[in-house]
Amino acid sequence: VKKIAVLTSGGDSPGMNAALRSVVRTCAYYHVQCVGIYRGYQGMIEGDFKELNARSVNNIVNKGGTILKSARSQEFRTTEGREKAHENLKEHGIEAFVVIGGDGSFTGAMIFNEEYGFPVMGIPGTIDNDIYGTNFTLGFDTALNTVVEAIDKIRDTASSHNRLFFVEVMGRDVGHIALNAGVGAGAEEILIPEEDLGLGRLLESLKRSKLSGKSSSIVVVAEGDKIGKNVFELKEYVEENMPDYDVRVSVLGHMQRGGSPSCFDRVLASRMGVKAVESILEGKTNYMVGVVNNKMALTPLEKAIKGHSSIDTELLRVSDIMTT
Ligand code: F6P
Repeated sequence: VKKIAVLTSGGDSPGMNAALRSVVRTCAYYHVQCVGIYRGYQGMIEGDFKELNARSVNNIVNKGGTILKSARSQEFRTTEGREKAHENLKEHGIEAFVVIGGDGSFTGAMIFNEEYGFPVMGIPGTIDNDIYGTNFTLGFDTALNTVVEAIDKIRDTASSHNRLFFVEVMGRDVGHIALNAGVGAGAEEILIPEEDLGLGRLLESLKRSKLSGKSSSIVVVAEGDKIGKNVFELKEYVEENMPDYDVRVSVLGHMQRGGSPSCFDRVLASRMGVKAVESILEGKTNYMVGVVNNKMALTPLEKAIKGHSSIDTELLRVSDIMTT
């Protein structure tokens, strides 16, 4: 393989730049040409390509976001869109691509591979940590640190005013961010889609905590939680049922996706980039690179997409004990 392309796709996550740097420098190390594709699959369709060398990725290891930009391309979902993308790759002599993104981006890569036999490799970049085949996705650790820092600040004001705060965090359909950050920030309750706490038990728990002498509380709510009420409705529900509670809501939102990547994410990104390029050079493609029990691992893309990233049951138990 003489030329490899790299793109970032879907929701950005801290560590994408560090992974890009790693892919580019590994290519340079093995004397393989590297092409950056801007704006994800949309840029692949529009031919938004740029040759990258080891120096093109100076000073980005610490940068949040993605210098290649990202997009969720609707056009790449069409056969016509993918055909244009394939023409562009062929025209530039590109023989394989590495896509840094989440399961939607991997699905696109897999379909492209099925249609054109084009070698692809995935690097999991999402704050949600919702991908099978890796213990950690790029950006998850940084997002956790961001959330914990924000909740620490909310705690200051919550305790000064004896208030209850519902803090909504991202994570799409899974509760990894909520559970981990909730334990780390010492939340009173953690509501995640994987576990149905129920409104009754939530009220009981809040009443118990008040009786035990706590004057303020933080409840972390995963955005995908299935309790049947959003954070604002939860606030109203608790105010109706516990009128002595002063309740506020804080939705952390997209700040969770930004910021300089943690050391953990930078190291993970560097390892994943090396593994992705070396695997392509060894002829192994159509995989996702991951880290399992601190060892680099390859998972077939199809399995990574269809597999279920289950919640850590031990952590669930720890969380139950901590919120006693
Ligand atoms: O997948 C990352 C993520 O930040 C999710 O946690 C969230 O549900 C979604 O993306 C938000 O997407 P958008 O940036 O399109 O609003």
